[in-house]
Amino acid sequence: MSTIDDLKEAFADESQASVRYLTFARKAREEGREDVAEIFENAAMDELGHAQRDLELIQGVSKTEDNLQSAIYGEAAEYINKYPDFIEKALEENNIDAVNAFKEAADNQQLHSERFMETLSSINKQS
Ligand SMILES: [Fe+2]
Ligand SMILES: [Fe+2]
Repeated sequence: MSTIDDLKEAFADESQASVRYLTFARKAREEGREDVAEIFENAAMDELGHAQRDLELIQGVSKTEDNLQSAIYGEAAEYINKYPDFIEKALEENNIDAVNAFKEAADNQQLHSERFMETLSSINKQS
C-alpha cells in the first residue's frame, strides 16, 4: 500500500472516530454526564483536525467555487443514485429504521445540494 492509500485509510478512520465521539458525547449528555460529554467532544474535534489534514494531503483543497461544485455533485450522486438503492434493499430486508434513516438523509442531501447551487450561482452573478 502506498502512503496515499494509508492517508485514505487514516482519513476514513479519523472521520469515523470524530463522528463516533460526537455520538458518545450526545449519549453522555443524555445521561447527565456533561464532563464526559465535553471530553468526547474535545477528542472529536482533534480527530476532525486529523481527518482534515489527511484530506488536504490526499487531494488538496480547491477554491470555494470549485468546492461548491464538487459538493453539488457529491450530494446529488448520493440522493439520486446511492440512497434510492439503499432504500430499496432496506425495504426488501424489512429494516424500517434504516429505510427512514436513508430517506431522511436523502431529503437532506437534496436540500444541501440546492443550497450549494443557489450559493454558487449567486457567486457567479457577482463576478
Ligand atoms: Fe486521531
Ligand atoms: Fe449532505
